[in-house]
Amino acid sequence: MPKGSKRKPVKAKSTVKNRSQWKNAAWEGRFTEAVDPDVAAFTSSFLFDRCLYPYDIEGSIAHTEGLVRAGLLTPAERKRLVEGLEEIRAEMSKETGLEAHQNRAPLDEDIHMHVERRLLEKVGEVGGKLHTGRSRNDQVALDLRLYLRTEIGQIVEQIVALQKNLVFQAEEHLETVVPGYTHLQRAQPISLAHTFLAYYEMMERDRTRLLDGLKRLNQMPLGAGALAGNSFSIDRSHVARLLDFPQVTANSLDTVCDRDFVAEFLSSASILMMHLSRWAEDWILWASTEFDFIDLPDRYCTGSSMMPQKKNPDLLELIRGKTGRVYGALLTLLTVLKGLPLSYNRDLQEDKEPLFNTVTTLRSGLRIMTSLTKEARFNDTNMKAATEEGSLLATDLADYLVEKGLPFRQAHRVSGKIVRKALDEGKPFEGWTLDAFKAFSPLFKQDLFDRLTLVGSIEKKGGIGGTSKKSIRIQIRKIKRKWNH
Ligand code: ARG
Repeated sequence: MPKGSKRKPVKAKSTVKNRSQWKNAAWEGRFTEAVDPDVAAFTSSFLFDRCLYPYDIEGSIAHTEGLVRAGLLTPAERKRLVEGLEEIRAEMSKETGLEAHQNRAPLDEDIHMHVERRLLEKVGEVGGKLHTGRSRNDQVALDLRLYLRTEIGQIVEQIVALQKNLVFQAEEHLETVVPGYTHLQRAQPISLAHTFLAYYEMMERDRTRLLDGLKRLNQMPLGAGALAGNSFSIDRSHVARLLDFPQVTANSLDTVCDRDFVAEFLSSASILMMHLSRWAEDWILWASTEFDFIDLPDRYCTGSSMMPQKKNPDLLELIRGKTGRVYGALLTLLTVLKGLPLSYNRDLQEDKEPLFNTVTTLRSGLRIMTSLTKEARFNDTNMKAATEEGSLLATDLADYLVEKGLPFRQAHRVSGKIVRKALDEGKPFEGWTLDAFKAFSPLFKQDLFDRLTLVGSIEKKGGIGGTSKKSIRIQIRKIKRKWNH
């Protein structure tokens, strides 16, 4: 403020309606005043981390057993704590998010403080023993791992359901011909089945990438304390077994500030969404009048409020659009993490909304694509007509000449000249006589016409990963064998 100014400092207006003093019993010993309600609202994560309650309670129950083993809690005390925790779990499972919002004024700082406060209300002083040897720093690390482990398991199942529909469609369309594109230019004939298996492969990499991340995530953090470990010789391995973790984390400092597993998940999620988005883009194009390859059921489309004739693939556009927010989540977290000194810092609380939002987006995207894959109908006639136009067999012409002994580069040139002439005369070479071909090379013989068909071209691609019916059947067999294992 400039010298001599009469203006008084402005106190920001609080957006918090309930101005009642907000005391936190968990740390009031050190404090001489209650936290400002605006600060409380700013720092609270309860309204978004309350969804962690099943994991928070599961972790707390396992912790009580660790405490009993370490002689810090009697079995009778443990029983009371567990009963209280179970009651809280039952209550919270019935409460909607809105009720949670309305019932918490002032807000609890986070899900951990909420459960602890409720426990104290229910079981009295003994509730105060639960937090022995534990900090919210290792507690939140545990909750997040438990949460993400469960979600990854479900996402992986969803991917498999989607893959099953892709394979179902591939089997339905082994003989449907469609132009294959590069540079969005018609390139070579392929079977429609081949496109489904292309998406299948992307999903398979996504599935295994998520499972790979799960290995690193699957370590038990509890016992790291606030940062240095705990002083009570709690048997971490035992707690890990209770919670079904194959390992405990190795370093307490790292444990309380490690969010690699979230970053890894968000990066796998980004790649998965990128795949869904590319696929959505294919089908958006295919649904256009220009292509008219696909019929999306009406119930998966929306209309225009102004143009009565419109049927829009908004659903696919939103798969593409929502990919942006998933990338945003990854960038948000990496940015939050990049400047953090060892070890826990409150910035880490900012991991949750991007993570939860990504899980929701991913899961609804997968669900929608699974139904759509099963129910989309394909316009075989239009696809075939498009494959017949645009000299898509030009490469087969060249391949034919190679089979007759011509080096590929020369064969390419001959085929290119044929295409040129066909374009100049407006007469596709597929309708030419043998003599017309012979004018370009004496190697052309009657058997050329067996090769110069869409099916002939497709069936030639018989190697591993090719588009022939035989190759695709082999791919499908391999996939099914994997499922049966
Ligand atoms: N709500 C916090 C978070 O999500 C929990 C840990 C808080 N720890 C602390 N020392 N303030 O990160």
